Amino acid sequence: MIASASSMQINALHPIKPMFLLKPASLRPSRIRCAAATTKQSKRYSITLLPGDGIGPEVISVAKNVLILAGSLEGIEFNFQEMPMGGSALDLVGVPLPDETLLAAKKSDAVLLGAIGGYKWDKNEKHLKPETGLLQLREGLEVFANLRPATVLPQLVDASTLKKEVAEGVDLMVVRELTGGIYFGKPRGFGTNEDGEEIGFNTEVYATYEVDRIARVAFETARKRHGKLCSVDKANVLEASMFWRKRVIAIAAEYPDVELSHMYVDNAAMQLVRNPKQFDTIVTNNIFGDILSDEASMITGSIGMLPSASLGSSGPGLFEPIHGSAPDIANQDKANPLATVLSAAMLLKYGLGEENAAKRIENAVLDTLNKGFRTGDIYSAGNKLVGCKEMGEEVLKSVDSQVAAAV
Ligand code: IPM
Ligand code: MG
Repeated sequence: MIASASSMQINALHPIKPMFLLKPASLRPSRIRCAAATTKQSKRYSITLLPGDGIGPEVISVAKNVLILAGSLEGIEFNFQEMPMGGSALDLVGVPLPDETLLAAKKSDAVLLGAIGGYKWDKNEKHLKPETGLLQLREGLEVFANLRPATVLPQLVDASTLKKEVAEGVDLMVVRELTGGIYFGKPRGFGTNEDGEEIGFNTEVYATYEVDRIARVAFETARKRHGKLCSVDKANVLEASMFWRKRVIAIAAEYPDVELSHMYVDNAAMQLVRNPKQFDTIVTNNIFGDILSDEASMITGSIGMLPSASLGSSGPGLFEPIHGSAPDIANQDKANPLATVLSAAMLLKYGLGEENAAKRIENAVLDTLNKGFRTGDIYSAGNKLVGCKEMGEEVLKSVDSQVAAAV
């Protein structure tokens, strides 16, 4: 994910506006190291932090410190505002996405989310599930383009469940449509059929503008990577997929330099484990993207390593690790914070256009892995097993030491 993230930028989606730079600071970063090492003019951004549930608060706390340090080295200051979301918001105020949280998120320059959900709320009615809060947040921020990179790092190739020769060198990006399709389509609900039997139903539906805009993001993304785009659908069966394919082909005319192919989703699921290196950029609908991005993440060995960015055409982006809230290891200092740290790097790069600060974080993560530090999920013999906090401290040290090396 690191190599691919550094090679791309979606200018068309860039949410940064000059007026953001004029916002007053209500809070100062609590920890700024080496601020004197830079002479650059100070910039300020407001970030909404949504720690959420389970391991969310632990990984967000690490990522926040890394953001503060990497930012300070580039003359960037942050105003962080922490807001409740998911199960913790349910416990606090009875809804998974309080209005105040959405409002704060909308007003900020970028949103960093930990993880949501847990056993405690699993049996809640749908409108009171933590997951419903996440869908409301994506819808509320209108972040329709979800970028989910899956890159096999040389340091972690042995963590993959695939054979080394299949996994090594994989570097792909799933561009998932995030605010449409069967997740949001109407009609939906529960009812009774003509035989009086109970039913549940949903609707897979896409309008022209929805396919066109995600297709453009995907073509732009592919163009900045290796120029190959594979659109995944089920056009041999579903009308919504036939339409999806028709619009993707129409938009392809704007990108003659990108090589477009199409694949049915069942075949794509198979090809991802058979020969994942054939993929560069994949574009697909909301539900296929949900499934294929989990599958792609496993090629890399640990879902605990993978970040994601959700972007709209304007307004703040939403940045979150792909992994869930892992309630089984919450509050035990066992979580891998690197997916959230790398999500913070995506926040800097795609959300704020701060490529240099993003690069500092990406380099520090690689350096920390090179030194052999591993959380349990990516541990293999011969490495140093560390907890969430220590991993965070090592990343911070590495951000610092690169400064020392550069002086
Ligand atoms: C994801 C998750 C969510 C989704 C859930 C938690 C609503 O699986 O981000 O991939 O289905 O989109
Ligand atoms: Mg998912």
